[in-house]
Amino acid sequence: MTIQYIGMKIGVVDSGVGGFSVLTELYKLMPAEQYYYLSDQDHAPYGNKDTDFLVKRLHLLTNELLAEQVDLIVVACHTATAQAIESLRQTFELPFVGIEPYLNVLNTQADKSENYVVLVTETTANSDRFLKLKQRLDPAALINIFACKNLASLIESYFHDEISLKDFNDGLERELELVLELKKSLPNLGTAILGCTHYPLIQKQIEDATQLKTVFPGAAIALRAQERLRSLFAYSAPTSPKTAGFHYRRRVDDSWQYKPWNYLQKVSDIG
Ligand code: DGL
Repeated sequence: MTIQYIGMKIGVVDSGVGGFSVLTELYKLMPAEQYYYLSDQDHAPYGNKDTDFLVKRLHLLTNELLAEQVDLIVVACHTATAQAIESLRQTFELPFVGIEPYLNVLNTQADKSENYVVLVTETTANSDRFLKLKQRLDPAALINIFACKNLASLIESYFHDEISLKDFNDGLERELELVLELKKSLPNLGTAILGCTHYPLIQKQIEDATQLKTVFPGAAIALRAQERLRSLFAYSAPTSPKTAGFHYRRRVDDSWQYKPWNYLQKVSDIG
């Protein structure tokens, strides 16, 4: 008799589709688990919300996922991690894995004179947690902070077919205009750190428009989640069969839908 592996239950949250960039990496690394992706479309974007609001929303999303008996939650949103992860860890017993802008790229590059730009939401840019991280990892101030006002919303609308490709491209050009200005004044600017999970969904478009390399820690976050599962639950990380389930709720008031994995493919169709 073969015993079927049922899978760990992993919750993933974001304001919208941005967390798909992390979910993709989780699925690649752990293709036999059950994923519960809960987004908060009615309150997106998160990138212009304050701490109190985000803490309340993240507590609510966590309770929704607890009702599904998830074993771990990945906060696949830089903004929510910056504002709410401490409160989540203090309040709930289950493990949380968050995501922060990959400023540590500084320590991985051979060229020590290279300049960087980190693209983040306004709320992340002004958060204590991010500014402390920046102070600690970038004392020589090689990284320029750039808050993108509407980029996450633009990506969200395009993903859901709410705007045309032309409007998307025009919006993207407007959003990145100032990055191009910055590039003119900083000849050593070579890399853009994607500090919002929505941005890797259009990684290629950002690279083409800015002629900068981009970095994103999605794969490292998946590894971290795997490590946490291993240490907490004697989890053995099966890599087959590829039986992972993708349960999706776009809004808190929706009911769970079971989605095929190629739903995420739509992301690579953007642009
Ligand atoms: N994807 C989220 C982040 O990583 C939130 C974007 C938004 O809703 O503004 O910051």
